[in-house]
Amino acid sequence: MSTALEHPTYNYKVVRQFAIMTVVWGIVGMFLGVILAAQLVWPQLNLDLPWTSFGRLRPLHTNAVIFAFGGSALMATSYYVVQRTCQTRLFCDKLAAFTFWGWQAVILSAVVTLPLGITTTKEYAELEWPINILIAVVWVSYAIVFLMTIKQRKTSHIYVANWFFAAFILTVAVLHIVNNAAIPVTLTYSTSIYAGTIDAMVQWWYGHNAVGFFLTAGFLGMMYYFVPKQAERPIYSYRLSIVHFWALIMIYMWAGPHHLHYTALPNWAQSLGMVMSIILLAPSWGGMINGMMTLSGAWHKLRTDPTLRFLVVALSFYGMSTFEGPMMAVKTVNALSHYTDWTIGHVHAGALGWVAMITIGSMYHLIPRLFGRTEMYSVGLIAVHFWLATIGTVLYIAAMWVNGILQGLMWRAINPDGTLMYTFIESVEASGPGYIVRLIGGLFWIVGMLLMAYNVFMTVKRSETVNQQPIPQTA
Ligand code: HEM
Ligand code: HEM
Repeated sequence: MSTALEHPTYNYKVVRQFAIMTVVWGIVGMFLGVILAAQLVWPQLNLDLPWTSFGRLRPLHTNAVIFAFGGSALMATSYYVVQRTCQTRLFCDKLAAFTFWGWQAVILSAVVTLPLGITTTKEYAELEWPINILIAVVWVSYAIVFLMTIKQRKTSHIYVANWFFAAFILTVAVLHIVNNAAIPVTLTYSTSIYAGTIDAMVQWWYGHNAVGFFLTAGFLGMMYYFVPKQAERPIYSYRLSIVHFWALIMIYMWAGPHHLHYTALPNWAQSLGMVMSIILLAPSWGGMINGMMTLSGAWHKLRTDPTLRFLVVALSFYGMSTFEGPMMAVKTVNALSHYTDWTIGHVHAGALGWVAMITIGSMYHLIPRLFGRTEMYSVGLIAVHFWLATIGTVLYIAAMWVNGILQGLMWRAINPDGTLMYTFIESVEASGPGYIVRLIGGLFWIVGMLLMAYNVFMTVKRSETVNQQPIPQTA
C-alpha cells in the first residue's frame, strides 16, 4: 500500500482496452459501410433476407462507426489525456472498468437488435428503451470518472483538451436523455413523448449536436492533445483555443434546424438554423487554424512522420467539411443538396477525413506508449495506411459530390410543358458509376484498417512493460 502511495501510477488498463476496441470496431463498422456501398451497386447483396437488408444494416453501420469506433476512441483518449494533463490516476478503477464493459454491452445489444429490426426509427438514436437506460447509466458513470479525475488533479489549471472532453460528455448526456424520453409499450417497442413537428425538432436538435459534440468537440479534445504532442510544439495560441471553445459550444446548439429546411418547422426556426450555421464557420476554422499553426517550424516532420500526417490531414478535412456544412445550410443550396448523395459525401468528409483520421493518428501515438514501447512496430505500414486512407476518402467524397449534384439537377430538370425531364430511376442509373468509385474508396479504407490491426498486434506482442508508468510528482 505504502509503495502504491509513494509511486502512484496511471490507470492505463482501461485506456488499453478502449484503444484495442477502437481498432476492432473500426474494422467492423467500416466493413459494414463497404457492404452497404456494395449493396447500392448490386442490390442482390441484400440476399432477400430481412436481417441483411440495406435498411437494417445502415443503422448498424452508423451505430458501429459513431458509437462503437468513435465512442471507444473518445473514451480511450479522454481517459489518457485527463490523467496525463492532471497528473493524477483516473478516479475509481472499478467505475472506469464498468464504463468499458457497460459500453461494450451497449454495442453488442445494438449488434443484436438492429438487424432484428428493433428500432425507434430516430436516426442515430435507433436503440430501444432498455438499451437507452443502460447507455444513460454508463454515460453518467463516464462523466463521474472524468470529472472526478479533474477534481483531484495535481496541476493548477485545466488543460483545454479537457474542456472539450468535458463539454462533449455533459452535452451528450443531456442530448441522449431528452431525445430518448419515451413511453415503453413492450420490451422492444416504445413511443416518443414528443409528437409531430416537435418530435422532428427535438430529434434534429439531438442529431446536429451529436455531430457537434460527439463527432466534433470530443475529437477536438483529441486534437488539442495529440497534435502538439506529436509535433513536439506547444499549441499555437492558447488564447485562441479558449475563444474557440466558448464560441463553438455557444453556436452549435442553434444550428440543428438546417436539417429540416422546407419542412413544417416554422420558417423563423429554419432561418435561425441557417444563420447560426454560417456563423459556425468562424469558430470551426479558428480551431482548425490553431491546430495547423501548431506545426509552425515543424512542417519538415511531415516528411518522415506519417502519424503527424494523419493528424494534419484530419485537420484539413475538418476545415473542408466545416466550410461545406455552412454552405449546405443556406436554404437555396440545401434545396439542391438535400436528399442527394451530396449529404452522404459531406458526412464522410467529416466522418472519414476528420473523425477517423484524427482517431487513427492519435492511436498511432497512443498505442506504443500504452504498451511500453516508443514506436509502433512498423512506421512504414503507417505510411501505407496513410495513403490508403487519404486516397480512399478522396474517392468517396468526390464520387458523392458528382452523384449529388447530378441527382439534384436531374430531379429539378423540367420540359417546356412543365413535366419532369427524368424519371427517378434514371437518376439512380446515372449514379451507378459514382457508387462503384465509392465502393473502391471504401475498400482502400478497409485494407488500411487491416494493416493497422496487424501493426497494433505486432506492437502489443512485443511489449514489455505495461500499466506501470509512474505519475510525475511535480506540479
Ligand atoms: C470504409 C468506410 C466507409 C464506407 C464504405 C461507408 C459507407 C456508407 C454508406 C454506403 C452509407 C449509406 C449511404 C446512403 O444511404 O446512401 C453510409 C452512411 C453513413 N456513414 Fe458511412 N461509410 C464508411 C465509414 C464511416 C465512418 C468512419 C463514419 C463515422 C465516423 C461513417 C458515418 C456514416 C453516417 C453518419 C452515415 C449516415 C449518413 C446520412 O444519413 O446522411 N461512415 N456509409
Ligand atoms: C460548421 C460545421 C457544419 C455545418 C454547418 C454542417 C451542416 C450540415 C448540413 C446543412 C447538412 C445537411 C442537412 C440536410 O440537408 O439534411 C449536414 C449533414 C450532416 N453533417 Fe454536417 N455540418 C458541419 C460539420 C460537420 C462535421 C464536422 C461532421 C462530421 C464529422 C458532420 C456530419 C454530418 C452528418 C452525419 C450529416 C447527416 C445528417 C443526416 O441527415 O443523417 N457535419 N451538415
